Amino acid sequence: MRPPLSDSPYPTFFDHTAIPCGDTRARLQSLIERMDQAVDECKECEKRTCRAVKEVLEAHIQPEEPFLPIECLRTSGNSYARNLLHRDPRGRYSIIVMVWDQGQGTPIHDHGGLWCVECVYQGRIRVKSFDYKDVPGHDMVRFEQTGQIIAGIGEAGALIPPFDYHTIDNPFDKAAATVHVYGGEMDFCNTFEQQSCGGYLKIGRDLCFDNNN
Ligand SMILES: [Fe+2]
Repeated sequence: MRPPLSDSPYPTFFDHTAIPCGDTRARLQSLIERMDQAVDECKECEKRTCRAVKEVLEAHIQPEEPFLPIECLRTSGNSYARNLLHRDPRGRYSIIVMVWDQGQGTPIHDHGGLWCVECVYQGRIRVKSFDYKDVPGHDMVRFEQTGQIIAGIGEAGALIPPFDYHTIDNPFDKAAATVHVYGGEMDFCNTFEQQSCGGYLKIGRDLCFDNNN
C-alpha cells in the first residue's frame, strides 16, 4: 500500500510549486468558477461545452504561472499518477491532474462515455489518436492510428465519444503534468490490449485516485 502523501517517497518534479497560497489559491478558485460557467454553456451540446472548457484551460494554464497544489504533482512509482483536483458538487464535471514520469503512458483507451478536455500543465506529452474498427464475430477489435501530436504547456484538446480513442505517453526526459476535465466522474473506462494476432482485447477498468480522494 502506498504510504501517506506526507511521507511519499515519490518526488514532485515541479519544485517551485508550493501549497497554494495568495495568488495561486485565487487562480485555482478562478479556474473552478470559470469551469462552472463553461459546463453550463450548452447542456445539450457537448461540442460547445468542450470548446468553452478548452478556452478556460488555455487561459488559465500559462508557463511560469503555477497554481496547482503540490499534492497533485507527485509522480508515482509504477504508472502515471491520477489525482483528483476538483469534483463538481452538482456532478456536472470533475478535474483530474495526471503526472507522467519519463517513459510512463496509457494503453489505447476510451473515457467511459464522457466528454473530456485535456491540457498540458508542465512538460510535454505525446498523444496518438485511433479509429476503432469492430470485427464482426470476434472478441477482438482493431485500431488504425489516425494522428499523433506533441503537446506542450497550455495546449489543449477535446475528445467526444465515440471519437475518443487515444494513448498518452511521455517519451521525454522530464516529467509532465496534464489537467483533464471530464463531463462527470470518470470512474470506469475501457482499455485495449494488443494481442499477438494484431487485434486488441477490450478490458474494462475501474479507476481510482492516487491522492486518495
Ligand atoms: Fe485519455
